[in-house]
Amino acid sequence: MEIIRAKDYSDMSRKAANILAAQIVMKPNCVLGLATGSTPVGAYRELVRRYQEGELDFSRVRTVNLDEYKGLGPSHSQSYRYFMDSHLFDHVNINKAGTFVPDGLAEDDGAECRRYDQVVARMGGVDLQLLGLGHNGHIGFNEPGEEYPKNTHCVKLAESTIQANSRLFERIGDVPEYAYTMGVGTIFKAAKVLVAVSGGDKARIVREAFFGPVTPKVPASVLQLHRDVTVVGDEAALALIERRG
Ligand code: GLP
Repeated sequence: MEIIRAKDYSDMSRKAANILAAQIVMKPNCVLGLATGSTPVGAYRELVRRYQEGELDFSRVRTVNLDEYKGLGPSHSQSYRYFMDSHLFDHVNINKAGTFVPDGLAEDDGAECRRYDQVVARMGGVDLQLLGLGHNGHIGFNEPGEEYPKNTHCVKLAESTIQANSRLFERIGDVPEYAYTMGVGTIFKAAKVLVAVSGGDKARIVREAFFGPVTPKVPASVLQLHRDVTVVGDEAALALIERRG
């Protein structure tokens, strides 16, 4: 596991964007696994800037997102499809038909989960998966549990996740209770994984996830077994990780 230390949020965002941009340059028709949340916003802003300056071409890039709230459609300002469009896709030359997010308005959970797994499989695998980290160690919406869910599934969100994400909704009661998420198995199949972390409130879980025992009780800990993981974090998020070298 490679750990990249950044000074602050904007430095972390630039460094994460460097890795995403390098992937696009090295393989213009790559498949990017993308994440939402506050953490990657700065990296997406940086990618948009580089596109506008003519450094990046998204025309052949395809993307697959980790998760979506059940019950929220693309026009809902807190849906993850809306997030991706407004933070990235609407500002670069990506072909939106090649960008995938689970359908939050699907009527049949099982069918939607199977459909999404097929979407990922048909893309031929993810070249680079960007991840944020929940305060309880969740990746995507894979919440702590007794086992690692392999495939896309519909999950009941942990109370702490609903609390954390309620900052973006008017009322806590507006936060959906369920979400669709790629399974840990699918995330783990990505050729490369980039985890972005920022802020002192993530310091404890960063240490637990990447230096504690590998356990589904801390879903991100499974990444310790992956052969190509880079963690890019700011000083505050990496404060409890010993400096090496
Ligand atoms: C959300 C998302 C995750 C995200 C995490 C952290 O619930 N489902 O994909 O990584 O929580 O979010 P943030 O970056 O806002 O701390």
